[in-house]
Amino acid sequence: MTFQEEILAGIPSELPEGMPYDSTVNHAPKRKDILTPEQKVLALKNALRYFPERHHAVLAKEFAEELRRYGRIYMYRFRPRYEMYARPVGEYPARCAQAAGIMAMIQNNLDPRVAQHPHELIIYGGNGAIFQNWAQYRLVMQYLATMTDEQTLVMYSGHPLGLFPSHRDAPRVIVTNGMVIPNYSKPDDWERLNALGVSQYGQMTAGSYMYIGPQGIVHGTTITVMNAARKVLEKRFPVKPGMTGEYVMAGCDRPSPAGADPSVMAGCDRPSPAGLLFVTAGLGGMSGAQPKAGNIAGVVSVTAEINPLAAEKRYAQGWVDELHRDLDELIPRIRKAVAAKEVVSLAYVGNVVDLWERLAAEGIRVDLGSDQTSLHNPWAGGYYPVGYSLEESKRMMAEEPERFREAVRASLRRHVAAVNVLAGRGMYFFDYGNAFLLESSRAGADVLLPDGRFRYPSYVQDIMGPMYFDYGFGPFRWVCLSEDPEDLALTDAIAMKVLGEIAATAPEEIAGQMRDNIRWIEEAGRNHLVVGSQARILYADCEGRTKIALAFNAAIREGRLRGPVVLGRDHHDVSGTDSPFRETSNIYDGSQFCADMAVQNVIGDGFRGATWVSIHNGGGVGWGEVINGGFGMVIDGSEDSDRHIREMLFWDVNNGIARRSWARNAPARFAIEREMARTPGLRVTLPHEASDDLLRQTLADSQ
Ligand SMILES: NC(=O)c1ccc[n+]([C@@H]2O[C@H](COP(=O)([O-])OP(=O)(O)OC[C@H]3O[C@@H](n4cnc5c(N)ncnc54)[C@H](O)[C@@H]3O)[C@@H](O)[C@H]2O)c1
Repeated sequence: MTFQEEILAGIPSELPEGMPYDSTVNHAPKRKDILTPEQKVLALKNALRYFPERHHAVLAKEFAEELRRYGRIYMYRFRPRYEMYARPVGEYPARCAQAAGIMAMIQNNLDPRVAQHPHELIIYGGNGAIFQNWAQYRLVMQYLATMTDEQTLVMYSGHPLGLFPSHRDAPRVIVTNGMVIPNYSKPDDWERLNALGVSQYGQMTAGSYMYIGPQGIVHGTTITVMNAARKVLEKRFPVKPGMTGEYVMAGCDRPSPAGADPSVMAGCDRPSPAGLLFVTAGLGGMSGAQPKAGNIAGVVSVTAEINPLAAEKRYAQGWVDELHRDLDELIPRIRKAVAAKEVVSLAYVGNVVDLWERLAAEGIRVDLGSDQTSLHNPWAGGYYPVGYSLEESKRMMAEEPERFREAVRASLRRHVAAVNVLAGRGMYFFDYGNAFLLESSRAGADVLLPDGRFRYPSYVQDIMGPMYFDYGFGPFRWVCLSEDPEDLALTDAIAMKVLGEIAATAPEEIAGQMRDNIRWIEEAGRNHLVVGSQARILYADCEGRTKIALAFNAAIREGRLRGPVVLGRDHHDVSGTDSPFRETSNIYDGSQFCADMAVQNVIGDGFRGATWVSIHNGGGVGWGEVINGGFGMVIDGSEDSDRHIREMLFWDVNNGIARRSWARNAPARFAIEREMARTPGLRVTLPHEASDDLLRQTLADSQ
């Protein structure tokens, strides 16, 4: 069969040959054996719903074996024979161009260069699934290949419910993942429902077909590390009269102004981060971006990674400069790098707790600290406890889960104790959206202040929230469906020109963000960030996203771009995600535990022109801890696309700014007032500010 024929065939009527288990591929860990014998019968019955009865005897045996061995039924036999990667969009069998674009995005997510455990349909984060099994994949591709632009495909956690009549302006696909009744949202509920084959953890971009490989995370991590470094410098070298400009990154190419502080580096009007030391953990799927971001920001970074395979992979890819297995050898290397103000990324192949304790004992000054172990998933391999080898931890996890949990809790207590020592000596420590503070507090670590707040800010509270999300800046991205690198280069050039024009008149409040983003897009091509599809990420605000998208649409219309473009974003954004310990951790009016914004976001995108929308339970910080929504939009040069861009992107950004403004976030208030001044028809409810003194006095008087 050709590629097209295999897609159109969906689930083949005759059983294909069994596919051998490929041990050269990175496979998902064995999942917890959580089902009762009765529930195992139900899981098999659920799996067999996809096949006619004549195949049940063979498949029941096979699926029972998969459930026993892997804890899940992946239906390996139905993995396609063709190579998995995004083809140029014209190669897909399709009656509707939008559906062809979605097929390309699905295949890019599953590309083995992109996906973490491609044969288990896990895209990233250890459990972020696109589908639960290969039957679902085959059915979805068949539906997409045969649907018209007057139908909508409905997706329940990887399962295609079917095609329903709709209309041209409706989304072609509506995706929900892991939407369970709130009281059934504990980690073990996910294990059970997923093993039964009725729910999945869609993470953020995995279950919404919008993952673009490591590039997606590099930009956000770079912004975070750069601004964390700026915060340290601001504190150490306060602005003095006569100083102009900003804290510069990665060296300085500007002359020193008159009156510059003598303590700053020669040749700069503000100090550079050269010589700052950044310590963190994790060289996995997304955490692997940290050393690259450290280098772009111009600091010395040390990243601990317990898994030698993960560390070696990042080293081989050039994402980290040096691997060190021995702390006795690493410590002098750190001292040398800091003293010489090298821009270098060092990795410690070992447990991060050992690293932190040694740094504390040696009295080394650490300037920036964080953690990106997978603490959203602490009991199933996201965090390895100190004092145990990787193999011993894996064995305990499966055979002595309670003992393993206690080891993780004890490790977190030691982890935080060492961090506290270094923070006491001036280190700026921030939670990097991996539930580090949350899980440490649950483990009884010394991470809470007397009033119950965390000792340390999350990166959203201090950096991404007030500087980016509140102004509407978020992880806008696009994919060139021609798969032609020249198209991507042209889109970079278009985006750079548009941003330059906007920056010329941008208010001071967002001038720094605009400068950083222009620099990012200027460098993006040179940094060779593409893995898989021809994709780009660029943090932009509503004006930037809209003008860039309209310029792309014009370029498609005029034939300058050779194919349509998919617009989208990840969910780490101003509006898409309600996540009290991450994206909405800088909401302080009590509503950070409400998920109205994410739900409203997806509903609004759905009727304003999105090609597909998705809403998920779970994501970066864990099942039950976040609701997040996303979208994808295929633009093809048409007037319809122009309309969809204007209407949908406007809502997609301003919904969140309006909510953040109502939560009394001053930058968001500034941004939404600016938007109201230029947009007829936009009327947002603004908060009246009440004086704290008045309220405290009133309450005191009433007692
Ligand atoms: N802030 C953000 O924007 C953002 C973005 C991406 C990911 N995250 C979060 O960061 C976390 C990491 O994501 P990922 O995709 O890299 O996950 P991952 O599981 O691929 O990588 C985590 C790495 O940490 C290592 N590790 C675990 N315990 C360790 C220990 N004690 N010492 C040293 N190394 C240890 C693991 O071996 C693994 O390689 C997740 O919780 C994710 O949700 C946050």
